[in-house]
Amino acid sequence: MAQTPQLPPIPKDSKVRQALGLGIGIWDYMEKNQRELGDTFTLTLPGQGPMVWTSDQKMVGDILRLKPDQIDASLVQLPMDLGENNTVFLNEKAHQDSRKIVIPQFNTGRLKGRAGVMQEIVSEHINSWKVGDEFNIPRLIGDITLDVICYTLFDLRSGDRKEQYKELMLHWMLEATSDTNFTLAQMVGARTWRKWLNKKYLKRTAEGKMGNGKKGIFPWKRAVDLKIQLAAMLREDIAAIRARMDSEETHTLSVLARATNEDGTLLDVERVISESVGLMIGGHETSAATGAWLGIWMQQRPDVTAKVREELIAHVQEEGKYDALKAAELPYMTAVLSESQRLTPSAVGFIRWLRNDTQIGDWVIPAGTAVLPNIYLTHRRHDIYGDDVLDFKPERWLGEGKKYKPTEFMPFGGGRRACVGMNQARQQLRIIFGEFARRVDFSSEFDGATEMPRSRMIGGQTEPEKGAFVTVRAIRPENYGFENLQEKKEEVASA
Ligand code: HEM
Repeated sequence: MAQTPQLPPIPKDSKVRQALGLGIGIWDYMEKNQRELGDTFTLTLPGQGPMVWTSDQKMVGDILRLKPDQIDASLVQLPMDLGENNTVFLNEKAHQDSRKIVIPQFNTGRLKGRAGVMQEIVSEHINSWKVGDEFNIPRLIGDITLDVICYTLFDLRSGDRKEQYKELMLHWMLEATSDTNFTLAQMVGARTWRKWLNKKYLKRTAEGKMGNGKKGIFPWKRAVDLKIQLAAMLREDIAAIRARMDSEETHTLSVLARATNEDGTLLDVERVISESVGLMIGGHETSAATGAWLGIWMQQRPDVTAKVREELIAHVQEEGKYDALKAAELPYMTAVLSESQRLTPSAVGFIRWLRNDTQIGDWVIPAGTAVLPNIYLTHRRHDIYGDDVLDFKPERWLGEGKKYKPTEFMPFGGGRRACVGMNQARQQLRIIFGEFARRVDFSSEFDGATEMPRSRMIGGQTEPEKGAFVTVRAIRPENYGFENLQEKKEEVASA
């Protein structure tokens, strides 16, 4: 056992090569390092502290059990200006208090209420398509997700304000996480970069300078303009909610705007804005990337897609009605999503920056180092998933088979900082892909393919390098598979 602080092996590659390895072809780079250095290795990127990646189960367990005072979340390398008071950057009590405000938004009761609307949103999208339309799955799922966000965050289903929010959210997120802005943030340090952007945002907001929202000479200009404009809309809505103070309202912005500090005062408006934009970012690209891989698997495996369709139709026939909540919990679709998140997780790892020298497994890792459970490599361990580890096999999640531990399956991170939106994200993806399987046939370059396309990082998530394009080949009617139930309803109505 190493007793003095020491870093696990570092690849011979230059720092720049290591940074590039985390961009295009990130999964291949992880596998290469594992082959050459073992389950635990250290990457040293330009301008940042060392990062220890591990798929060693003892080390992953120790990382998940780290205490709040052992880590510093403000060092997380997100480049977008969410405001430093966002949950994701907070530490210790402030972090747990903040989660307590946000988590009830994703409890079972709220999700029950939302399933039906999510299904309606998916139907509206499908109903607007025609044969021959082409979509890039991550952007399509991103678009559907924005509709869901408009509903859950603002209670908006249609209208100009919704479209305005959607437009600003999408473009702000894309600009804020563009490759150039990501690189600049890495160079100056993400926290310094965010604080600098936030200062600009607050100064220009105070001066009433909204910007024209167009690109400028400086790559960050548009991101700052769009954040100012988005925050201005949020500020108007927060003021209106606070004027109403309607305790019956359940949409997230209303709950946040009415939430109080321990002393009973309302949360600072900037804090409410910060949490709101954080939930937009948290839910958007993650769902888009996860959907991209799931969509590719379902194209590669028409047998799996057919089973998803049959399961959904059989369930509705048995129930005698379509209940979106139950339809979103069907075991085979759930297993397909889990299997997709196992082999092709959108997050490659999740990060904890250590404040002090810390024992992790058999290593004492030096202060100022980040430790990351390696989601991708853990999900491909033979000793956990068996000899067929590389096979896409939803059945492994079904029946009385092996249940996987939090250290073995972790597409949403884990421990005290695990993803708060997990249940909503999984519900939404199961509704979307269940409906796609039931109503739409797509054709694509992935049909029958056995290899996954190369991965690359987009907005901190792993997506197929060249997108995932599909073309609509057939669309079935909205009541496909339930036609007899409709007839029964009509018979009852006319009797
Ligand atoms: C498939 C979709 C999603 C994936 C794969 C995903 C993944 C993750 C991961 C890996 C983390 C880091 C956890 C850790 O450090 O232990 C995280 C954190 C977080 N996610 Fe998600 N997420 C998804 C959807 C969502 C949604 C829909 C929301 C909200 C609407 C959301 C909100 C958050 C927040 C607020 C955090 C920070 C939690 C904290 O620091 O305490 N995520 N997510």
